[in-house]
Amino acid sequence: MIIEPKMRGFICLTSHPKGCEQNVVNQINYVKSKGAIDGPKKVLVIGASTGFGLASRITSAFGSNASTIGVFFEKPPQPGKPGSPGWYNTAAFEKQAKQAGLYAKSINGDAFSNEVKQKTIDLIKADLGQIDLVIYSLASPVRTNPKTGITHRSVLKPIGNSFTNKTVDFHTGIVSNITIEPCTPEDIENTVAVMGGEDWDLWIEELKKENLLAPNAITVAYSYIGPALTEAVYRKGTIGRAKDHLESTAATITDKLKDIGGKAYVSVNKALVTQASSAIPVIPLYISLLYKVMKAEGIHEGCIEQIQRLFQARLYTGSAVPTDAEGRIRIDDLEMREDVQSKVAELWKQADTDTLPNIGDLKGYKNDFLNLFGFSVDKVDYLVDVNENVDIEGLV
Ligand code: NAI
Repeated sequence: MIIEPKMRGFICLTSHPKGCEQNVVNQINYVKSKGAIDGPKKVLVIGASTGFGLASRITSAFGSNASTIGVFFEKPPQPGKPGSPGWYNTAAFEKQAKQAGLYAKSINGDAFSNEVKQKTIDLIKADLGQIDLVIYSLASPVRTNPKTGITHRSVLKPIGNSFTNKTVDFHTGIVSNITIEPCTPEDIENTVAVMGGEDWDLWIEELKKENLLAPNAITVAYSYIGPALTEAVYRKGTIGRAKDHLESTAATITDKLKDIGGKAYVSVNKALVTQASSAIPVIPLYISLLYKVMKAEGIHEGCIEQIQRLFQARLYTGSAVPTDAEGRIRIDDLEMREDVQSKVAELWKQADTDTLPNIGDLKGYKNDFLNLFGFSVDKVDYLVDVNENVDIEGLV
C-alpha cells in the first residue's frame, strides 16, 4: 500500500515501515561511526522501540556488540492498516542485529504488568542467564498497578497556581497563550504512580530475586530538568514530582544492589521531539527555539547522539561515572549551557506566529515529528508501494 501521514492532534495515526527502517539504519551507522564502546554485553531495555530507549538498544548492540532484549507496547500492523512506528523500528532493528550476528529478542506488552515481567524473566533465564545493563525508558500516560489493580492516569499540570504562557501548534505554526489550571493532590499521586520510580524498582527487585543481574550490573532511567521557562508545567509540575520520585528511587535501588556491586543511575537528557514530549504544552515552542540556537552553535543532538555520548563519555569510560551534586548523570549539559539558555529566553520574548518561522526551528520540529513516524525521511520513496505487514523476527 501507499502510506501517507494522517495527523490527529499530537499524534500521527499512520507510520511508514521503510521510513522507520531507514531511521534505524541511520542511527546504527551513527553509532558505528563513533567507534567501539567497551560497554555492556547483555542488555534489557524497557521501552525499547522509540526515542531514548530505541537509541539505547541500538547503542548497546552496535556500539558494544551486546545481546539485547527489548520490551515495549506497540501496535502490530493489520492488512491495510500500518502498525505503530515502534513496531517497524523494532522489526528493522532485529533484522540489522541478526545480519550482524547479534542476539535480539523482543516482548510486546504492558511492561507495568506481572505477566510481561514474568515473560521477560523466563526469556532471560532461557537465553542470556544474567543481564549487566537494564535501561528503563518508559513514557506512558497510564499505568495499572499490578499490586492494587488501580489504574492511574498521569497529567501534565502545574502545582498550586494556574500557569499561562505561550505555546505553539506545531502543525499550523500558530503561537497562542495557553492557561493550564493547577492540579489536584490526586493528580500528583497519579502522575507519580505512572511516571515515578515504583515500577522501575519492581523490575529490578524481580530481576534481582531471580538472580538475573550480573555482578556490577547497572540500571539507568531517564529524566529531564529544563529551564525556568518550562518549569511550571514540567519540573515544578506534576511530571516533575514524578521525576523527583524516579530520581530518589535510584538511591533506593542502589541500596538493594549493594551486595552484587550494582548501581542505579538517572541520566538527565536533553529536550527532544518524541511522541512523549510533543504532547506537553509549551514544550514544543521551547524545543523549536532551542533547536534553532543549538543548531546555530553546532551542538544540536538527537536521541542517538545523546545516548551514544551517555555510553561512551559517561557510563563506560573505564573510570568513575561523573554525576552532579544530586548523583545524576547530565547529558543535558549542552542544552543547559548559560549562553544557550539566555539566547532561548531572549527569543522566547519575541516569539509569535509571525516571528517564529525565522527565529525558531519550526521546520526542524515538524520534520523530526514526521520522522518519528517514518515520514519525510531522506532516501525513502513514498510513492512506491510498501508492505505494511512486517514481522518482528525475534518476538517472543
Ligand atoms: P517515547 O514515547 O519515544 O518512548 C516510550 C517507550 O515506552 C516506547 O518504547 C513505548 O513502546 C514504551 N511504552 C510505553 N508504555 C508502555 C507500557 N505500558 N509497556 C511497555 N512499554 C511501554 O518516549 P521518550 O521521549 O524516549 O521517553 C523515554 C524517557 O525519557 C521518559 O522517561 C522521558 O520522560 C525521558 N525523557 C524524555 C525527554 C524528551 O524530550 N523526549 C527528555 C529527557 C528525558
